[in-house]
Amino acid sequence: MNLSKNTQMVRDAWEQYQSDYLRFNVLDRPDYYEFFEGGGTDLSSEEVDLLGNVTSLDLLDTCCAADARQSFSWANLGASVTGCDITTSAIENATRTAARIGKDIDFVVADAQTLEPIGDATQDIVYATYIIWLEDLRKASLAWHRVLRTGGRILMRQAHPVVDCLREHENGALAVSEPYFDRGPDFHTFQGTPIANRHGGWGKHAEVVEFFYRIEDMINALVEAGFQIARVVESRSEGIGSLPSHFTILARKT
Ligand SMILES: C[S@@+](CC[C@H](N)C(=O)[O-])C[C@H]1O[C@@H](n2cnc3c(N)ncnc32)[C@H](O)[C@@H]1O
Repeated sequence: MNLSKNTQMVRDAWEQYQSDYLRFNVLDRPDYYEFFEGGGTDLSSEEVDLLGNVTSLDLLDTCCAADARQSFSWANLGASVTGCDITTSAIENATRTAARIGKDIDFVVADAQTLEPIGDATQDIVYATYIIWLEDLRKASLAWHRVLRTGGRILMRQAHPVVDCLREHENGALAVSEPYFDRGPDFHTFQGTPIANRHGGWGKHAEVVEFFYRIEDMINALVEAGFQIARVVESRSEGIGSLPSHFTILARKT
């Protein structure tokens, strides 16, 4: 894989974290293996409603991670799933889990920005989440377009970028803490994701970089890649204040 320095940095940080990330997921949900083995799903109702019946459709999860919760969920809803992640440790862990719980899912090491081992026009659905880790959303959108069959759909879901600019004080007041426009890459020390904090912290750290995408960046990247936007949804639940928590786009390759 020919990766930029920033993408290598993201990969290296996550490579170290994946086994612990899976461990934290299992601590969070002690019946993790039984849950997914028994057909459990862990997707928002918005995602499920937007895609409708996925039975027998080829679905590619672009950033599945070691827990692969969404890959297992879509498979349990009947999709034929390929789970991708840029780290080998995610793919090894997810493959082990799939064998343990009897799920027939292909887990493949791939950069979501190129999807190199994935063939052209092989998928009906691309499920793209956590774009904060992708340095080049335009390039990624072209790759997602490439792997879809004509008529195929992309579901892109991300924490709502407006809410990502705000912090809530203890008294409930909201303050703008980050700019919405002209926000460059955020280089910082990665100490695990919020799930680690619920279980005593990761205890390790790694340098990492995150990327911020505005709503116009997401929509324009998809449109420029050739997608036709079908629907956008701003989630009403779980947001701070009465603001939306997530922004989800459904688009089609025409
Ligand atoms: C927050 S995790 C994924 C979500 C997880 N399934 C969940 O919902 O809890 C983000 C994942 O993105 C992966 N990732 C980061 N950059 C990537 C890239 N360029 N291509 C593919 N995967 C990437 C990381 O390795 C990590 O496993």
